[in-house]
Amino acid sequence: MNLEGKRVLITGGAQRIGRAFTESFLAEGAEVVVHYHRSRAEAEALSPFTVCANLADSDSVGRLWDEVGPIDILVNNASLFTRDRLQDATPERAALELQVNLLAPLDLIRQFAAQSKQGAVLNLLDRRIKAHDTSCIPYALSKLALAELTRLAALELAPQIRVNGVAPGPILPSPETSEAVFHERKGSIPMERIPAVQEVVNAGFFLLKNPSVTGQIIYVDGGQHMLGNGV
Ligand SMILES: NC(=O)c1ccc[n+]([C@@H]2O[C@H](COP(=O)([O-])OP(=O)(O)OC[C@H]3O[C@@H](n4cnc5c(N)ncnc54)[C@H](OP(=O)(O)O)[C@@H]3O)[C@@H](O)[C@H]2O)c1
Repeated sequence: MNLEGKRVLITGGAQRIGRAFTESFLAEGAEVVVHYHRSRAEAEALSPFTVCANLADSDSVGRLWDEVGPIDILVNNASLFTRDRLQDATPERAALELQVNLLAPLDLIRQFAAQSKQGAVLNLLDRRIKAHDTSCIPYALSKLALAELTRLAALELAPQIRVNGVAPGPILPSPETSEAVFHERKGSIPMERIPAVQEVVNAGFFLLKNPSVTGQIIYVDGGQHMLGNGV
């Protein structure tokens, strides 16, 4: 699939990894609809096509879809990450994380498939789908289920729509993690390096561009998923 001229929706496309996807799609000549929740100024600086929605609100996902109009590519990137161990994972907190990270992408894929005869979906996962990381249980569950949804939707939607995933390792520190602590994680990565944001985009573009690739997940984590260790 040539990305030039394609219309792309990127959730959470104004900041960090989502922003790198937005900029790279624009560089390839795609038209990007940047979805945002709080980052309005950043979204509007990137693209004339923006849409605001709180993905924690299931009704707003439907409204978002109506506003966006037809697209060729959907990138489910927006996500909520909380360090909730089992005792913190109340039904309310877990439901919120599952709504943003799993149910909103599910609904967007469902609506995309209803609208499109062909296209591609890219889901942002996490190398933790191969770990047993007890430090973020609702998040880990949401990404595990999204990985399985990637395969189920790939089967269900072939031959019209391809569905793939990228599973990054530590790429950018979360706000509560200092750069120094973050970079210490290199020690638990076989390749002894923090992957660059652009490597995540490159893996995603490989999956999007090749018309026979569907139901695949590429780990961009320096091999950490093979150790299965939670950090
Ligand atoms: N960063 C990493 O090292 C890493 C590692 C493994 C996997 N990943 C995965 O890669 C993807 C991107 O990571 P990231 O670190 O760049 O993500 P992030 O900064 O944690 O979140 C991306 C965007 O999600 C949006 N978002 C959060 N809650 C939302 C809500 N309720 N409604 C709508 N949008 C909401 C925010 O948009 P606004 O700013 O507009 O509010 C935010 O900018 C995620 O799926 C993440 O799980 C990242």
